Amino acid sequence: MQLQGKRVLLAVTGSIAAYKAAHLTRLLVKEGAEVQIIMSTSALDFITPLTLSTLSKRPVYHQFHKNETGEWNNHVELGLWADIFLIAPLSASTLSKLAQGNSDNLLTATYLSARCPVMLAPAMDLDMYQHPSVRSNLAVVKEYGNIILDAESGELASGLSGQGRMMEPEHILKKIIHHFNKSKDFEGKKIMITAGPTQEAIDPVRFIGNHSSGKMGVALAENLASRGAKIDLILGPSHIEVNHPNIKISPVTSTQDMYKAAQAVHPHMDICIFAAAVADYTPADPAKEKIKKNEESMSIVLKKNVDIAASLGRVKKEGQFHIGFALETNQEEENAQAKLKKKNFDFIVLNSMNDSGAGFKHDTNKVTIFHQSGQKQVTDLLPKSAIADLIIDSLKKQLDPEN
Ligand code: CTP
Repeated sequence: MQLQGKRVLLAVTGSIAAYKAAHLTRLLVKEGAEVQIIMSTSALDFITPLTLSTLSKRPVYHQFHKNETGEWNNHVELGLWADIFLIAPLSASTLSKLAQGNSDNLLTATYLSARCPVMLAPAMDLDMYQHPSVRSNLAVVKEYGNIILDAESGELASGLSGQGRMMEPEHILKKIIHHFNKSKDFEGKKIMITAGPTQEAIDPVRFIGNHSSGKMGVALAENLASRGAKIDLILGPSHIEVNHPNIKISPVTSTQDMYKAAQAVHPHMDICIFAAAVADYTPADPAKEKIKKNEESMSIVLKKNVDIAASLGRVKKEGQFHIGFALETNQEEENAQAKLKKKNFDFIVLNSMNDSGAGFKHDTNKVTIFHQSGQKQVTDLLPKSAIADLIIDSLKKQLDPEN
């Protein structure tokens, strides 16, 4: 039973392949998964809710409310309940709604509310599947971070032959099992992550800060936590909500606070990720009281802050792994390579300010990873969660080159 205790939210849309959802449900239940099914209205033309509710042993939902009682089928709760959300089969019509953020039915509203990974198994006729609008919608939803289970080739319901058949239920099951196995590959690892900005007090009400949102560090923390690691997240002032049993947050404000928190846990860590945008300088003598605007001009003397990554890099123990970030505007590669050496990182992730859609405040990012070995890896512009996945896969390869 490889899916014992896993919660699979299976959404079925209107396609002839909807009949395969029955077999898929049986396979999932046999592996121990809890399966909750939702259907689009047009899926009802292809398979009955009775079949699917019998196989899944749970009521099937297809409307925002239950007709008889007027009770609300809460799409937010459904979205949060699931460990994985699988849409199989995915029709061209629902695909276009996912690409556009249309939430006119329970299925698409649940999709927008889901925080778990989403797998999409398209099923279409030959020419539909190749139509430029479908190709571009698939590219869009892939860019949102969804996992696409490519349609398979073979005989299609229309009598045509080619790519468009929904991936066979047995193959989908394998993908899901693989997904969950992968998600435990950091079990037992202790990981410290610094994230977000720091704020350096000028006086009790003012500070020097920066535009970092903390999104990249939090995406890494969530990804590693869901893969079994225990995370110490040392987080500068940020509005992001983080809620995972494996993540312990130490909220900090200044660089000194962040340094103290990092120093305290560093000796016990297997991996340290320095994703914070730390202020390099801090007011040398912050005022005890609010500064009044009595003068025509004013200047603040700044002193250099501690370099957290460099300082901990000097006491890095055998077997500890350090990952750094670099945000550069010019001579990116040269600067990133220099920081890799100077701060004793095992690899460094370069964000270039010159890539549109990447960097602070964006939900997407495009990075280059430089390894100590000289190896270099460039990513596409992707959601930060997908970038986190790539960084972590790269980390895993270095820790465990065999797998
Ligand atoms: N870093 C750190 N403590 C600091 C400054 C940076 O831990 N006081 C870490 C960052 O979290 C990042 C890496 O060092 O992983 C590089 O940060 P960056 O700001 O790009 O480099 P700096 O060393 O500050 O160099 P510069 O600002 O001159 O480019």
